[in-house]
Amino acid sequence: MIIGNKLYYFDTISSTNDYAKTLLYEAPEGTVVLADEQTDARGRHGTSWYSPPGGLWMSVLLQPEKTTLLSIAAGVAVCSSLHTFGITPGLKWPNDIIMNRKKIGGILTEIVDNNVIVGIGVNLNIRSFPQDLRDIASSVFLQTKKHLDKKMVFDLVCREFDEYYGMLKQNQDRDILSKWRDYTVLLGQQVTIQAGDATVAGKVLDIGLNGALIVMRSDGQIEHVSTGVCHLH
Ligand code: BTN
Repeated sequence: MIIGNKLYYFDTISSTNDYAKTLLYEAPEGTVVLADEQTDARGRHGTSWYSPPGGLWMSVLLQPEKTTLLSIAAGVAVCSSLHTFGITPGLKWPNDIIMNRKKIGGILTEIVDNNVIVGIGVNLNIRSFPQDLRDIASSVFLQTKKHLDKKMVFDLVCREFDEYYGMLKQNQDRDILSKWRDYTVLLGQQVTIQAGDATVAGKVLDIGLNGALIVMRSDGQIEHVSTGVCHLH
């Protein structure tokens, strides 16, 4: 197992992804940065990420040969770890972890040369969110009234992610995608995906081998969407 072979732990840090960047070229592959609280955490597409104590905030340093399905693999690993604890979130493309349509976790993957920092955020035991997030964000605690042991979830996420990372290395991409299909809430659903100025609206058919979402527009045209923010109707 390489993920978690070296651990940097902080009570408070600006962002575990940013700290992981300072370790590039010196820390071994699999190094994890973990923090109880982040003061300047980031989400995808330049958003900020609310990170009070109670959440699982971690970043993993990797040097993969290919990055195509890495974020998908991380999302699947988180989902599968939570399922082990009897929590049953779903995945929204590409790798948002959701419960009752609200986001309880996400993955921010950043690439620097041939290093990849996979940032994982899971709203575990958070009891309230600022007003502006209440409609879109939630936590495992708010959804289930269960308080999970963060250390146990952390250990399992490392283990699961290590396993999926191993599968990526063995080119078992189809197995990872089939797990994603098991967890996703999107198959057969109507979505709108926004990527910059472009919008694709239609029914989700599948996910492609490269991680693109396969969507059929109302005129029957099939689109392979490789980036963007997905809204479930
Ligand atoms: C998303 O927008 O869905 C991705 C959210 C990723 C948040 C995590 S928390 C740990 C790591 N550090 C950060 O600054 N961001 C990621």
